Amino acid sequence: MEKKLLIVANWKANKTVQEADQWLRGLSQQEAKIDEYIGAGEVAIASPTTTIPFLFESLTKYGLGSLILASQDVSIYPAGPYTGETPAELLVDLGVRYCLIGHSERRKFFRETNLEVEAKMGQAVKLGITPIICAQEISEIPTNIRNYQPNQYVVMYEPFEAISTEGEYHAEKPERVEAKLEDFKKKLNLQCRLLYGGSVNPENAAVFAQLPSVSGFVVGHASLDPQEFFSIIEQCFLKTSPH
Ligand code: PGA
Repeated sequence: MEKKLLIVANWKANKTVQEADQWLRGLSQQEAKIDEYIGAGEVAIASPTTTIPFLFESLTKYGLGSLILASQDVSIYPAGPYTGETPAELLVDLGVRYCLIGHSERRKFFRETNLEVEAKMGQAVKLGITPIICAQEISEIPTNIRNYQPNQYVVMYEPFEAISTEGEYHAEKPERVEAKLEDFKKKLNLQCRLLYGGSVNPENAAVFAQLPSVSGFVVGHASLDPQEFFSIIEQCFLKTSPH
């Protein structure tokens, strides 16, 4: 069966509205039109909350209406008296369809716990947002995952050491990624889509895309530049589809 990849740009805490605008312009000026590839999979942008409204209003203007909006987090609470929080209801209002949850940077720098990840997953699913549960180990995948249908969530394997640092890439070895995902699948009987994240770039993306267990990526640093990001999309979608 033809594999439909999900490629998520994770801008992390980067890009002003003006920079986001330049990025969209850069992507729309690529020689090939992104829409030609999109049938072979899905491309999402997980931008900071501050740029989601701008992207929501601008994608169509740049002819990039097929890109999907994602958030990098979601509140454990619904809409209400929770100062500083971004609940799922308000993300849905801005067209958000995917949400990263439990990214290793949140677990490390903000001490996010499995219980919070579980609660966030519940909030996202309730509002129809597909959570991308980020995990380095099986123990970071919430146990309540079995209460959901496999098409309601995605799991990403993302070893913290493989995350790029200041533009230096140190990706996990493809065979280790495959082994880890196989292990996730076997031990938790996972039937959802599985992604890999950590130093994915134009040089290694096609190799990861062809691993049997990999259904896509979360791309951090290499997604900040529209050319680099487009090159990842091109290579993955060209090599996994009959275009
Ligand atoms: P990276 O980040 O591609 O810059 O390594 C990936 C991630 O943290 O999601």
